[in-house]
Amino acid sequence: MNKFISMRILLTGFSLLSLMSLSATSSFSSESNIETLIESCAVCHNAAGPVSPNLAGQKRDYMIERINIFRDKPDLNVSMFPFVQNLSDSEIEAIAEHFSSLESVTSANGDAEKVKRGEQASAYCLSCHGVKGKSANSEWPNLAGQNSSYLYQQLKAFRDGTRDNLMMKTIVKDYDDEYLKALASYYSQLKP
Ligand code: HEC
Ligand code: HEC
Repeated sequence: MNKFISMRILLTGFSLLSLMSLSATSSFSSESNIETLIESCAVCHNAAGPVSPNLAGQKRDYMIERINIFRDKPDLNVSMFPFVQNLSDSEIEAIAEHFSSLESVTSANGDAEKVKRGEQASAYCLSCHGVKGKSANSEWPNLAGQNSSYLYQQLKAFRDGTRDNLMMKTIVKDYDDEYLKALASYYSQLKP
């Protein structure tokens, strides 16, 4: 094979590769149908996943705001970013609408012994997250039945400043890990 031909083959190979990676990153374009998008989210966001939050029955406007943040900040969640990066505003609304209309579930995967302590600690949370972890406001998240380890990670993130929310930071700033685990255990076993 002469040098010229092998160069051509190499170049064709390269452009094929770049085409493939292009279609991989833009596979969730605005033409994609909503159902396919929803399925791509459900892989991580079903009731079984202990790390990812369960989205079934979560508040619509709260989810819209969160998805927007994840879409605009690639480093925040590198594993989820490829799935949200090309979503349009109307796709985000449709997806949030779908998940918020699903029936909530109870994960109850916290430490059963911590539940009582968590219940006492939850007195400070009622005004915003509701008496039984169901918030009255569409922009504030429900906590009832959510995965315990996810709740714990988020509470730590608010306290340590890696998740930015002044209201939540002020509330949990002096809580130790055990206290946060108790709160997470309590909310994970509430029936939404
Ligand atoms: C590879 C797994 C994965 C996929 C796929 C995925 N997510 Fe996520 N998502 C996560 C994880 C993990 C978190 C928690 C991030 C954190 O700890 O901050 C999260 C957080 C969220 C939250 C915040 C929930 C809350 O209670 O604050 C929303 C909303 C969300 N994802 C929506 C979506 C949507 C919409 C899609 C599909 C277009 C999607 N995710 C696809 C893993 C995933
Ligand atoms: C003054 C109102 C207010 C109070 C009181 C409050 N929260 Fe929140 N909480 C919020 C808001 C608003 C958000 C959404 C923050 C965001 O958008 O990042 C939030 C978010 C959260 C989240 C993240 C949920 C998710 O799905 O990612 C957890 C967990 C949480 N709060 C737990 C608690 C606990 C436990 C208490 C009591 C110790 C409490 N909150 C008290 C307003 C409040």
